[in-house]
Amino acid sequence: MKEIAPSLLSAEPLGLRSSIEKVKDHIRILHLDVMDGHFVPNLTFGPMFAGAIKEEFPELTLDVHLMVSRPQEVIPWFIKAGADWISFHLEASVHHHRLIMSIKEGGLKAGLALNPSTSLCLLEPSLPYVDFVLLLTVNPGFGGQSFIEEGLEKIARLREMREKGGYNFLIEVDGGVKGENIRRIWEAGADVLVAGSAVFSGDPLKNLLDLKERLR
Ligand code: DX5
Ligand code: ZN
Repeated sequence: MKEIAPSLLSAEPLGLRSSIEKVKDHIRILHLDVMDGHFVPNLTFGPMFAGAIKEEFPELTLDVHLMVSRPQEVIPWFIKAGADWISFHLEASVHHHRLIMSIKEGGLKAGLALNPSTSLCLLEPSLPYVDFVLLLTVNPGFGGQSFIEEGLEKIARLREMREKGGYNFLIEVDGGVKGENIRRIWEAGADVLVAGSAVFSGDPLKNLLDLKERLR
């Protein structure tokens, strides 16, 4: 799979509808970063906002990335709001299986997200159950940071784990994805490439088409 998922975090805050409209005909997945000001040092979007996006743009797969300390409390809110994919951070929960199942029982795709400094070993027990793994390649909280290069090897190792185990989860990569590195990140094994500032600074459509071109 090869998909670019624009992250609304870097879009113009007062022009979010028009930012989505500019790219919507060229994407399938829209990435929504939910931050609680506790797990990460920033506050962003809530379930009302997610619901409004889903209502206005039902054709887009709404990919909700929860960067919150107590994901078990907010997952039901985002299921109700109409999210299609939900990922929560491995570091924020001690009941991974339970939470993954609660997302899947709602008919959604479930993902586990990992900070750059978290070992892939911790994922192993969940690999048979997850629909996708979200690898952070920046320390989460803000858009526009630089890609942490060690992420490339981590992506490749996760792809190997998938092959060895015969699993079929997708690998999503989030943070610092830009024109100059998108091809290498995809070649390392990313299926879904989240891009925030690389899409939403300047002309979003032109930026998106340029990124897509680099993956052809
Ligand atoms: C990081 C977020 C990302 C962010 C990526 O905290 O999870 O989704 O929007 O932004 P860029 O692409 O600018 O690194
Ligand atoms: Zn994200």
